[in-house]
Amino acid sequence: MKETGKIWMNGRLVPFGSAKVHVLTHALHYASAVFEGIRCYSTPRGPAIFRLDAHVERLFKSAKMYSMKIPYTQKQIADAIIRTVRASKLGECYIRPLVYRGYGFMGLTPTRNSVDVAIACWSWPAGESKTGTGTGGIRCCVSSWSRIDSRSQPMKAKSASNYANAALARVEALESGYDEAIMLDFEGNVVEGSAENVFVVKDGAISTPSSSLGILEGITRDSVIQIIEEGGGYVVESAIKRDDLYVADEIFMTGTAAEIKPVTSIDRIRIGNAKPGPVTRTLRRAYADAARGRDERFSEWLTPV
Ligand SMILES: Cc1ncc(COP(=O)(O)O)c(C=O)c1O
Repeated sequence: MKETGKIWMNGRLVPFGSAKVHVLTHALHYASAVFEGIRCYSTPRGPAIFRLDAHVERLFKSAKMYSMKIPYTQKQIADAIIRTVRASKLGECYIRPLVYRGYGFMGLTPTRNSVDVAIACWSWPAGESKTGTGTGGIRCCVSSWSRIDSRSQPMKAKSASNYANAALARVEALESGYDEAIMLDFEGNVVEGSAENVFVVKDGAISTPSSSLGILEGITRDSVIQIIEEGGGYVVESAIKRDDLYVADEIFMTGTAAEIKPVTSIDRIRIGNAKPGPVTRTLRRAYADAARGRDERFSEWLTPV
């Protein structure tokens, strides 16, 4: 981690290395935290934050699902995010707003602990800056870990606790020689990746698991759907099973960190000709153009820093 700029903590910008919490902070013990992952891209008009309002809105929804009252308005948090990015002086960066139960009381019951907010950003190269338009893809497995669902905890919240399940799947995939895991629910429906949504292309139709399955409703997923609709196409929300993955023409995953990642094999079974397919390649270009301010149709997605 390269320490750059400042971190916003409860209203104050503090030097990166001084942004510390007590070891008895509630969230460290009980995963009582919700967060966001946002990207700032370099655009012809300077650095701009991609879909800032949508991310801040989701952060507040996540907090609401855990009865955490954020002691700031959405506008104050959006402004604080812009301030933090400015202070970092990074042209492109990844931004992590975190809302967590703080230090003060120990024990499971979180309601007496403060709701604290931190915002950090750091350099995390995006696809285009790393690999141009990107020619490779990732190899995925279907995880042996089932994705927990909304009967257990609110999966539409981007909460730290959801990532315990996701991290088990991610580590299992990496240790088995894959790049990423795709998770099924208890009924065998494809749900999402450890930190991405999933899309399948078959015979010209594009489908994705329904939001009613308890996926994280990805902002990249929504952006991709809007880009497809703007181009006159559509995406079907449908039940996708493991064997639908094996016979797909193309599969891609979406997420703020991942952007659009082509999947070239599942469980070592080749998808298409094991290269990023034409739909995925077109969408990657279109997404990069929208995020980097090269497509005026989506300019309202960008907040200048
Ligand atoms: C479990 C999960 N699903 C989907 C996504 C994609 O969401 P977004 O596109 O908003 O980053 C993420 C990434 O944050 C995630 O962690």
